[in-house]
Amino acid sequence: MNLVQALGEQLGKDKVFVGEEILAKYLSDASLLPPTVPVALVRPTSTSDVSATLRLCNAERWPIVIQGGLTGLVGGAHPRCDEIAIAMDRMSKIEEIDIVNRTMTVQAGATLEQVQRAAAQAGLFYGVDLGARGTCTIGGNVATNAGGVQVLRYGMTRQQVAGIEAVLADGTIVNSMSKVLKNNTGYDWPQLVTGSEGTLAVITRVCLRLMPTPKPVLAALCAAGSVENALVVCRRLQETFDGNLVTYEGMWRSYMEAGEHWGLLTAPFGSAPTVTLLIEAALGLDGDARALFESTLFEMLEEGLLHDALIAQSEADRRRFWQYREANYEYYRHAPKEFHYDVGIPLDRLATYVETIEASASRTLPQGRLIVYGHLGDGNLHIAAYPADPAQDIAPFEMALYSAVQDCGGSISAEHGIGIKKIDQLAYSRSAAELALMRAIKHAIDPYDILNRGRVLTANA
Ligand code: LAC
Ligand code: ZN
Repeated sequence: MNLVQALGEQLGKDKVFVGEEILAKYLSDASLLPPTVPVALVRPTSTSDVSATLRLCNAERWPIVIQGGLTGLVGGAHPRCDEIAIAMDRMSKIEEIDIVNRTMTVQAGATLEQVQRAAAQAGLFYGVDLGARGTCTIGGNVATNAGGVQVLRYGMTRQQVAGIEAVLADGTIVNSMSKVLKNNTGYDWPQLVTGSEGTLAVITRVCLRLMPTPKPVLAALCAAGSVENALVVCRRLQETFDGNLVTYEGMWRSYMEAGEHWGLLTAPFGSAPTVTLLIEAALGLDGDARALFESTLFEMLEEGLLHDALIAQSEADRRRFWQYREANYEYYRHAPKEFHYDVGIPLDRLATYVETIEASASRTLPQGRLIVYGHLGDGNLHIAAYPADPAQDIAPFEMALYSAVQDCGGSISAEHGIGIKKIDQLAYSRSAAELALMRAIKHAIDPYDILNRGRVLTANA
């Protein structure tokens, strides 16, 4: 094809791959969609390579899909057979750590773990952490506004973004890499690109905010008898620990029981409580910090807000507690079919929301399994449904789940994004006016709809 040939001539043959030259890892992301060979794979090594690629594709109005670490769950980076894929994995340099401004400048293909380590080596700290840290890239994290397990304390990726260098559909390079903390000079382009899931521009470099290293964390695994009590505990810990509650993860009974059933977990508390909590507070490891952590949890046990508490005495204990929370990455291997949801619920409606969807699951998915877990302190629930019969229609359950999100003013995607998979549900969380505004922005910036076409918004080309 002429376009692929032109790309090879412009960039060099070692950066453009077709057919069997494309390694299997580029054929799918973590969405469980079937692997698909794109028309070609481009692996640029510089911003000008990205610019040249887009200029050529835009002239042909050819759709492209952008790939970071391919750990996304909603198909945002999953290639289609008529697309050209751009993988950012050869652009993975940490370019600079600026101690005075507390920023790090990185290329988009650097992994989250690379960034965390580089910050730590410089005596600083990067505020985002999530299970896919070793594989997911900063460009992907910014494009999807990644959340994770420390949002309560440090915010989402959006809060860490100081600046972005990105390439528009027509190849224009937009450099918005200022490090200043205060910058009121019109529209905030980096923040618009953050979370746009590759539909507005290809992110090539990012300037991230770093922070002073927090004290080491103390960890506990606790048992709560109700969601209401778990939320009281969360608020109290935030106040008592002066904002240093870092992690407040919840695993509902259904989650712990499924893990036991599939032989992935051993119950920490005998019979599973309504919610098992994984708690971490950055208080330091000295005697006073431990005493405060223990006495605070003890008070809550005495008041009946918690039923049980295990406090990590070592890093090995802490790792063991995390194994409960990270077992979810294995769950889907044990059931023929998994349907996964990622909702944001206002905290005051959380208990009722879970009751509503559990009741709906028992009606619409008889003998099936519904598991609930997630970032309880953020009101971000991950819900996985496993119908007893894989051929069963999931639509009635989904409709109930999403309608209940809408009823409580929640979000149908708290952190995983819309991608391909959630596109038909976007209207549960966004008004007609908001959707029209998104389309107008998309059309102004990418008039031929070449960038991640059919992700977030339905294709309009
Ligand atoms: C997690 C992923 C699924 O929190 O977002 O484990
Ligand atoms: Zn999550």
